[in-house]
Amino acid sequence: MKTVHIDASAAYDVLIGDGLLDELGTRAASLPGVRKVLLVSDDTVFALYGERAAESLRKAGLDVATFVFPHGEAFKNLEVYGELLEAALAAGMTRTDAFAALGGGVVGDLTGFAAATFKRGIRFIQLPTTLLSAADASVGGKTAVDLPGGKNQVGAFHQPALVLCDTHTLATLPEAQFLSGCGEVIKYAMLAGGELFETLCSFDGADGIAAHLEDVIRRCVELKRDYVQADEFDTGVRMLLNLGHTFGHGAEALSGYKLPHGCAVAAGMAVITRAAAARGYCEPETLRRLLTLLERFGLPASIPYSAEELLPVIRGDKKAAGGNIRLIVPEVPGRVRALTVAIPDLAGWLRDGGVL
Ligand SMILES: NC(=O)c1ccc[n+]([C@@H]2O[C@H](COP(=O)([O-])OP(=O)(O)OC[C@H]3O[C@@H](n4cnc5c(N)ncnc54)[C@H](O)[C@@H]3O)[C@@H](O)[C@H]2O)c1
Repeated sequence: MKTVHIDASAAYDVLIGDGLLDELGTRAASLPGVRKVLLVSDDTVFALYGERAAESLRKAGLDVATFVFPHGEAFKNLEVYGELLEAALAAGMTRTDAFAALGGGVVGDLTGFAAATFKRGIRFIQLPTTLLSAADASVGGKTAVDLPGGKNQVGAFHQPALVLCDTHTLATLPEAQFLSGCGEVIKYAMLAGGELFETLCSFDGADGIAAHLEDVIRRCVELKRDYVQADEFDTGVRMLLNLGHTFGHGAEALSGYKLPHGCAVAAGMAVITRAAAARGYCEPETLRRLLTLLERFGLPASIPYSAEELLPVIRGDKKAAGGNIRLIVPEVPGRVRALTVAIPDLAGWLRDGGVL
């Protein structure tokens, strides 16, 4: 088992290892004052691991209530958020109790936002079951739901009290979802460079990550820890974690969220790096190495939409303000920079990135 300690506005541990779901009960019971846990999950994940998680909680003497909603980004919305809060109230949850989010980033973001606001804030535990949530989304306290007009438009910063990542649960993840997580892992490799980047380059593809799951997740979580501890509320360096996200989010939205998040990030990274190389911000070698990596993993390196389709979506991005947008631009693996770009110039960036 690996442990990463996070010291933000709340301090907590991220535990990564095989079989940790069975320790949920004892670890939740050790949080001061917790007597009841609302276990939140989507229907797919609950069917696989819900009973095991609930049993672990019961065995530790905790009361368990459950809230299960249909899987998919489309349900990370205000309606399901309201239903979750009603379920918590009906279950008699008090301010010292806790929510537990069993699932991927959708379950984690929704549960975290509900925990941030229920009775003005109660604790929550992250139990990530996707590679994407294990390596990224479950850590750092960003919580949100989507509005019909945009993704993650309503949210709060609310750190979890504990993150328990049972790597064994990732074994049932559909291949496409595992690949999506690889997209976020490659993002961390571009941010960090060095050993993580070289290690991924030495892999044949996603199987390499699967074979070194604990170490790869630990490394990504350590990197995220450093950004979160330096800039918890996302006003400075944490923004660099948005590498690939501005164009990626656009593609994700246009696909009606059928394109998995990490695949969209991969495509977004390819586009921004291609544009950065064309404009002299990064070495052609950086672009070549990124494209080789994406190809080896079978991740997309282009966005299947036109600039005309993408631009209106990108203009609505949270990173757009005052006629400008911030683009995160790689220079070499291990060095990226934030550039403020005027909205009218975005079309040129997209064109240089291969989006016509
Ligand atoms: N808060 C953050 O910092 C942050 C960071 C990155 C992404 N996100 C958010 O995360 C979300 C994407 O998360 P995701 O990629 O985990 O998607 P997800 O939560 O939708 O999970 C993907 C699919 O896999 C299924 N699944 C999950 N675990 C499984 C398992 N172990 N076995 C079988 N099936 C399983 C789910 O039911 C779902 O259908 C997006 O909403 C994104 O905005 C948040």
